[in-house]
Amino acid sequence: MKNKINQYLYNYRNLLVYLMFPIFITMICSFVMLLGCADTSEKKIKIGLSISSLRVERWPKDRDIFVEEAEKLGAEVIVQSADEDVNKQNEQAENMITQGVDVLVVIPQDSIAAAQIVKAAHAEGIKVIAYDRLIRDSEPDLYISFDNERVGYLQAEYLIRHKPKGNYFLLGGDPGDNNAQLLREGQLRALQQAIDNGDIQFVADQKHWAVDWDPRDALNKTEQVLTQTNNQIDAVVASNDGTAGGVIQALEGQNLDGKVLVSGQDADIAACQRIVKGTQTMTVYKPIKQLAKEAAHAAVALAKGETVQNANQTVNNGVVDVPSILLTPIQVDKDNLDEVVIKDGFHTREKVYQTQ
Ligand code: BGC
Repeated sequence: MKNKINQYLYNYRNLLVYLMFPIFITMICSFVMLLGCADTSEKKIKIGLSISSLRVERWPKDRDIFVEEAEKLGAEVIVQSADEDVNKQNEQAENMITQGVDVLVVIPQDSIAAAQIVKAAHAEGIKVIAYDRLIRDSEPDLYISFDNERVGYLQAEYLIRHKPKGNYFLLGGDPGDNNAQLLREGQLRALQQAIDNGDIQFVADQKHWAVDWDPRDALNKTEQVLTQTNNQIDAVVASNDGTAGGVIQALEGQNLDGKVLVSGQDADIAACQRIVKGTQTMTVYKPIKQLAKEAAHAAVALAKGETVQNANQTVNNGVVDVPSILLTPIQVDKDNLDEVVIKDGFHTREKVYQTQ
């Protein structure tokens, strides 16, 4: 009898162990999974910032403000610059994807070639922001920039207001940069009426673009056009301050600096000093702080799977309407340089006026 009871108890214990075992395993798994969840929710967001080049004065500013803001939001940023090399940029982006970034922010060297980056990132479920320059032939998740057509409009509108008749030289930016095309559209919109009235003529048609936005290319092309026209140029619609610098150097060679109107954009320190000196006519100020900060917030939101605040318009990139944030550029000349650029803390007064 005692044996039977023992046997019974033994079987009962075994049964309990058999029953408990899966429950126990399930509990361990759940615990491990919970730990895993807790781990991902606390994992630092990793952002990849792929920059086409740091040569132009503004880009290190964009980078520094973006990184600072993203870090404030608890994210970590990997930055790579491609030195104006399309293939290098694609390779660097691939590399950042392999490093497990949660979101990629791309300033494309070439608006079409960068489509490959968007596609490679999307294949890994990584969202992509086109920063300052649109990426075409793909479906970027966000485009954040200034209204670049308006930048071009502001450049040419200023010149035509101050030189309503004469010979105009249009010098575009890098042909692979979508912004260069948008600027040209805005410039032509501002000049259209004067063209139609026959008040202005284009020297060298509309065929000149400064490759890689290189000031030396701008210098060479302006020298060429000055020679061809026997110095008969009244205004140069230069698309940014760097290339305006090259244009002005060419004008200096012919003692025409300060006599020919020249536009620009970015409010580079050298351009502000030239405006004070009178050799550059105007620039377009774009508050980079606002752009870089908004982009950092957008990157963190996308990494968290949230929707981006302020993306309240779209821009078509040839494939889709890309959700976009377009900030407002400001026309600047010697009269509002202090009020706009210096007051915003972009440059100090001492530096801007140090040539005087
Ligand atoms: C930017 C300009 C810049 C230029 C050259 C453009 O895409 O919008 O601000 O001067 O690239 O880097």
